[in-house]
Amino acid sequence: MSEWNELIQDSQERWEKNAEHWDDYMGKESNRFHRELIRPYTEMLLNIKEGQSLLDIACGNGNFSKRLAELGANVVAIDYSAKMIERAKIRTKEYTNQIDYKVIDATSYEQLSELGIEKFDSAVANMALMDIADISPLVKSLHKMIKSNGIFVFSITHPCFQPPGVRKITETEDRNGNVVTTNSILLSKYLTPEPYKAIGIKGQTTPHLMFHRPLSYYLNLFSKSNFVLDGMEEPSFQTESNKFEWNEIPPVLILRFRKVA
Ligand SMILES: C[S@@+](CC[C@H](N)C(=O)[O-])C[C@H]1O[C@@H](n2cnc3c(N)ncnc32)[C@H](O)[C@@H]1O
Repeated sequence: MSEWNELIQDSQERWEKNAEHWDDYMGKESNRFHRELIRPYTEMLLNIKEGQSLLDIACGNGNFSKRLAELGANVVAIDYSAKMIERAKIRTKEYTNQIDYKVIDATSYEQLSELGIEKFDSAVANMALMDIADISPLVKSLHKMIKSNGIFVFSITHPCFQPPGVRKITETEDRNGNVVTTNSILLSKYLTPEPYKAIGIKGQTTPHLMFHRPLSYYLNLFSKSNFVLDGMEEPSFQTESNKFEWNEIPPVLILRFRKVA
């Protein structure tokens, strides 16, 4: 089972509690994770053209919606947290003409249907699908909402390397007089879908709910709804300032699906 409809309300209440802290922490520019890993690769896969119509799903405090507007897109940005949307509106005031915010639950096919048919050139969901209790109504309605040949790009915590319960291990060794540090992960489960609680950012007082699904779930769900995978990135920090040297284990997976038929 990969749909947990009984947890939707709980997950929404948790995001409402975290919205203000999340917005304060992310600020105007988001954190390094977003700036260096998510944004550049998502923008590359989206390949936005001026005047395009974009749907930003689970937009949070609107940071990426603003970026889309800066690139010339007209954006409909949705989130089920009314507080998050309130903050997003304040944070992106200068783009009122280009961003239309709506409080919508992405697990509700009915609510998503209000957004229209074949209305969007592309859709995006940054770091959100693993936070959504049931993504099957979303995928089904995306096929209706996106124009012919349109795309959906989304980033998620990498399900292969960050499943629930993963342990991060740092070992140091004196190798013939050189201190060598090796980072690795230890995981004991991956295949079974599972809801779990997690802390996303420093100082978050209420853990939010996350929903682990293996890669095959995502691929099969999209192909059943007539989408084909035509882009994929697994970015990791590559700069020397990355003192943790986790370069070989990408924390995030970004996929692009294209609507066919
Ligand atoms: C990790 S945040 C990401 C926010 C934003 N996309 C970003 O990259 O900064 C996850 C967001 O998903 C939203 N969310 C989770 N489940 C949702 C649902 N069922 N419908 C709409 N939004 C949802 C939360 O309210 C939260 O704003």
